[in-house]
Amino acid sequence: MHKTADFRNLLAEPGPVVLGGAYDGLSACLTEQAGFDAVWASGFCISTSKRVADVGLLTMTELLSAAADINKATSLPVIADVDDGFGDAINVVRMVREYEAAGIAGICIEDNQHPKRNSLHDGLRSKLVTLEEFSAKLRAAKAAQTDPDFVVIARTEALIADEGMDAARRRATAYAEAGADMIVIHSRAAEPDDIRDFGMRWSGDVPLVAIPTTYAHVTVAELYGYGYKMAIFANQALRAAVRAMQATLQSMMQAQTPSSPEADLASLNEIFTLAGFEEVRELESRFISGVRPHPPAAQQPASPTQTHHAADTP
Ligand code: SPV
Ligand code: MG
Repeated sequence: MHKTADFRNLLAEPGPVVLGGAYDGLSACLTEQAGFDAVWASGFCISTSKRVADVGLLTMTELLSAAADINKATSLPVIADVDDGFGDAINVVRMVREYEAAGIAGICIEDNQHPKRNSLHDGLRSKLVTLEEFSAKLRAAKAAQTDPDFVVIARTEALIADEGMDAARRRATAYAEAGADMIVIHSRAAEPDDIRDFGMRWSGDVPLVAIPTTYAHVTVAELYGYGYKMAIFANQALRAAVRAMQATLQSMMQAQTPSSPEADLASLNEIFTLAGFEEVRELESRFISGVRPHPPAAQQPASPTQTHHAADTP
């Protein structure tokens, strides 16, 4: 079964759908092991993992390559953050074709002007494209997909850009009319009040999505009660990894031995398992150690049809 259909099935089930943010194959695998429903290929986390600011600097190819790594490392469907779509509606058409061909279940495109600015950074001001321009980009995305189950999520940054709640509602309604399969209403407020008000008054059929990073004390059940079908825990795994690496690196350097924080480390066996060494062992016994080696060249009976020299034999 295609992952696009898997994701559609998740949406069709009652109850909330929860995505964990990943930035590479390993973080995707850990997200699946923790029981998430699907994986968010986070632009912020992918950029940060390359030590690049999340302001539209990575190319489509770089973000797609990371999303494809994530997709190959998990059996869960992957929803890819495609920022502002990498340009205008024409860039969006190519982007949808490429992501669909890579087996990604859906994309999330935001109404930031290209090059986008990260939504959560206080010092950056987001500029949005017009409602009309973004609606056209969404229509282009929907026209470009070939798999009907591929999901196009529209994300409005109206609250982030201080356009206000009415503008957020107008934009979300227009994006739903343009064919978006889901709507993200993004907020960087410390409390989920705007998110709650928006959800409670949303009358559209198109399901809503929240990304509770700054209002992190909210629960999935609360969001579901406000009318949000999906929640994305976008960057917590990356932030946990940073803390854990800092602690271990500092402690080893202080103690001048790598042995001191051993108790906090994943064992090598755990890492081997995560990386798929079990399959390697099985393949080795099936195709390498179980196969009889060639007899030495000198003992090979000469075949009348053999035309090559023994020196050609590897
Ligand atoms: C991401 O994870 O890249 C997102 C969510 O777009 S946020 O960082 O909150 O903008
Ligand atoms: Mg992003």
